[in-house]
Amino acid sequence: MPLRIEIKSHSEKETRILGYKTGKLLKPGSVVALTGGLGSGKTVFVQGIAEGLDVPGNYYVTSPTYTLINEYPGRYPLFHVDLYRISNFYDFEDIGLYEILSGKNGVVAIEWADKLDMDILSEHVAIRFAFDILSDKLRKIDITAYGREGIDLIEKLRLFNRVP
Ligand SMILES: Nc1ncnc2c1ncn2[C@@H]1O[C@H](COP(=O)(O)OP(=O)(O)O)[C@@H](O)[C@H]1O
Ligand SMILES: [Mg+2]
Repeated sequence: MPLRIEIKSHSEKETRILGYKTGKLLKPGSVVALTGGLGSGKTVFVQGIAEGLDVPGNYYVTSPTYTLINEYPGRYPLFHVDLYRISNFYDFEDIGLYEILSGKNGVVAIEWADKLDMDILSEHVAIRFAFDILSDKLRKIDITAYGREGIDLIEKLRLFNRVP
């Protein structure tokens, strides 16, 4: 049973398409924990998820700056969380993150998820973005399943991407 897949992306478009495929497969209650440095492609990936969830094209998905959480309407609601600016533990309560996670009525995509105590995430899919010295457009995207849904997702992405 594959718990992990590594996919290479050679362009912003490829990352967006990977997000799109992922968004097609996510369901209410799905949690995607995104990590990787500034500019590694987390937001591009979430833009793809939004497309996959049929968020109308007039919504421009960008990292929430002051609000920390943006909600977009789609086939299911998409909650886009960005913890880059979060400074202390208590903020998680203030921004309503626990509420959203326990509500399970939408898909939750969290940038800078490594700022979270991972114990508060039960089942989730972890997606790690890494730069590559070979090219400034190359990204290594590591997807790890923590739970059944992630395993199914990886299985399907493996078929899509023909990764052995
Ligand atoms: N393979 C790639 N995947 C995603 N983004 C890429 C890729 N190659 C270059 N880029 C560029 O990297 C930047 C990624 O930005 P963004 O998604 O906002 O990063 P993050 O949210 O991780 O800080 C964009 O400017 C994008 O055009
Ligand atoms: Mg971002």
